Amino acid sequence: MKNILVTGGAGFIGSHTCLVLLEAGYNLIVFDSLINSSSKSLSRVLELSGINDFGERLSLVKGDIRNFSLLQDVFKNSKEKGMPIDAVIHFAGLKSVSESITEPLKYWDVNVNGTRILLDIMQDHDCYTLVFSSSATIYGSSQQMPISESADIKPINPYGTSKASVEQMLSDAFYSNLYPLKVACLRYFNPVGAHPSGLIGEDPLGIPDNLFPFVSQVAIGRESLLRIFGADWNTPDGTPIRDYIHVMDLAEGHLCALNYLEKNQPQIFKVNLGTGRGYSVFEVINAFEVATDKKIPYEIVDRRKGDVAVNYADISLAKREMNWYAKRTLNSSCIDGWRWQLSNPNGYK
Ligand code: UD1
Repeated sequence: MKNILVTGGAGFIGSHTCLVLLEAGYNLIVFDSLINSSSKSLSRVLELSGINDFGERLSLVKGDIRNFSLLQDVFKNSKEKGMPIDAVIHFAGLKSVSESITEPLKYWDVNVNGTRILLDIMQDHDCYTLVFSSSATIYGSSQQMPISESADIKPINPYGTSKASVEQMLSDAFYSNLYPLKVACLRYFNPVGAHPSGLIGEDPLGIPDNLFPFVSQVAIGRESLLRIFGADWNTPDGTPIRDYIHVMDLAEGHLCALNYLEKNQPQIFKVNLGTGRGYSVFEVINAFEVATDKKIPYEIVDRRKGDVAVNYADISLAKREMNWYAKRTLNSSCIDGWRWQLSNPNGYK
């Protein structure tokens, strides 16, 4: 396997994964609409990999995942150049929980229908290896902790439903036995941090919904204070606990998933990517203050709808099957995330 199509490869997790894949020797075609990402992330990826220009081992096609003919052309052209696409890593999709509640059909269209189109085209071109960006959000408010892959799938918002539906669609396609599909659904916990160079990182559009980028923007002065969504949860310090995973660990997880699929029989492999350790909101603030030497002002407000008290991964399957586990600490996530924020106060803009 040498040539990989990376849909959504200019985004936060996508760009870090592109770097890891280039370093591992793969050639990449990134297919990205750039509606929520910047091609600058990929210029920086090239810089970090010592590649001079686009087109050398990484090319970028700007396009929407629902654009059947454009995506079809990407597969055709690669074949004609003697570099057929061997596998796809599929990041492209919408990811805002709040937007998914107000515009659910958009999430069905882009996330679910977009993946169906991709799968159709892959089958047309005898490409059967797919790594899909799923999310721990599909477990909803599971009571089982740590959450293992066998927990019930009960998403509680349309974003979660769209991820769970794609997993179901991929399972159905696999069990049809029509094609020798090799699929990995990677269920991400909470991705944070940045590449240690500070050249690539998370660049959310507008005001961030998630804790880490919000804290970072308070520290840099773009936001004045953090609102903590409830300190009366049933946890030791009253704030919710999450499993924050360094984005470089997550990126390496994609490489391990590709290797795993390559070595194994056709299958649908659903696996958690987390650290197996939970931290509370107060613990995150504290780690960030220590790493940055900045005070994070906050106020405690009402709980956010749809939040749960505790959420962290059972990571034994990833370790056992892919020999993958998270190596970086919360402290290095804070240090690396802050380096990125400091050197790029306005993201890629
Ligand atoms: C959220 C999404 C989840 C998605 C994940 C991606 C919701 C309900 N869930 O998860 O579907 O897969 O992001 O990373 O949106 N917090 C604050 N103040 C803030 C922001 C967050 O107190 O300004 C708290 C939240 O209440 C939560 C914790 O910080 O307890 C983490 O929040 P967040 O980073 O948004 O992640 P999740 O809610 O776990």
